[in-house]
Amino acid sequence: MLLSGRDLCLGVVFLSLLSCGFSSGSASDINCLKSIKASLEDPLDMLTSWDFSNITEGSICSFLGIECWHPHESKVINIKLGDLGLKGQFPRGVMNCTSLTGLDLSSNKLSGSIPADISRIIPFSTLLALSYNNFSGTIPASISNCTYLNVLKLDHNQLSGQIPGEIGQLSRLKTFSVANNLLRGPVPDFVVASVTADSYANNPGLCGGPLKSCRSSVEKSLNCSSPPL
Ligand SMILES: *[C@@H]1O[C@H](CO)[C@@H](O)[C@H](O)[C@H]1NC(C)=O
Ligand SMILES: *[C@@H]1O[C@H](CO)[C@@H](O)[C@H](O)[C@H]1NC(C)=O
Ligand SMILES: *[C@@H]1O[C@H](CO)[C@@H](O)[C@H](O)[C@H]1NC(C)=O
Ligand SMILES: *[C@@H]1O[C@H](CO)[C@@H](O)[C@H](O)[C@H]1NC(C)=O
Ligand SMILES: *[C@@H]1O[C@H](CO)[C@@H](O)[C@H](O)[C@H]1NC(C)=O
Repeated sequence: MLLSGRDLCLGVVFLSLLSCGFSSGSASDINCLKSIKASLEDPLDMLTSWDFSNITEGSICSFLGIECWHPHESKVINIKLGDLGLKGQFPRGVMNCTSLTGLDLSSNKLSGSIPADISRIIPFSTLLALSYNNFSGTIPASISNCTYLNVLKLDHNQLSGQIPGEIGQLSRLKTFSVANNLLRGPVPDFVVASVTADSYANNPGLCGGPLKSCRSSVEKSLNCSSPPL
């Protein structure tokens, strides 16, 4: 029997819906969690529920710290792995959880830098919480391309350098904290978020915004470093 062009088209549409909804989406999210587990050290054996030996549709949704859009579909909406004693670097495999809206890795022992391409890894996240770890290096400017962020918590790490001014452009940001790091220089000018001095506490050289003006701190450092005439 010959199929008409229209039937063929409908068939193609139906097949691609099937593959998007049930295989490639889930496979990608399962890869995501496999990669996260493989890249983190778990000295306290907190991720024993992350067992990939008999995966059925939706079974990853009962893994510790994993929330799915729907309980019977392997599509992850939130990853909440706070306070589990995890070690290692930022788990880049998160990139394959393509429908993720929240990532909380706070209060672990993670180290290394925050990936420079963070906006490709969590493009739709409304929450990024990396507080109370040991992340170092600079805060990547590309965080400003995570345009859905409501909450950005980077406090209690070893982050250094300046805070990228672009972060001030995040138009949905409500909560921002970088307290207890090694940051210096001017704080961003926030277009919507109202950020208080507490969010900047215990950094060696931040200025501007709710803190002392950058002008006076520049003068002071000039006074200190210039030899007397
Ligand atoms: C895999 O899990 C399903 C659902 O939990 C269960 O019915 C099945 O017996 C399991 N298969 C094996 C080989 O453990
Ligand atoms: C995402 O999954 C693909 C396979 O689907 C894999 O090749 C790639 O390495 C994964 N990305 C990361 C960052 O783990
Ligand atoms: C944190 O990282 C620094 C290097 O960036 C290292 O010297 C220090 O030991 C680490 N601290 C912890 C608690 O892991
Ligand atoms: C944000 O994304 C745009 C478009 O992809 C790019 O041109 C820009 O450089 C990015 N900004 C940062 C700070 O990475
Ligand atoms: C720096 O020196 C200038 C004049 O030399 C003085 O007016 C200013 O108050 C000094 N700044 C600080 C922070 O001490």
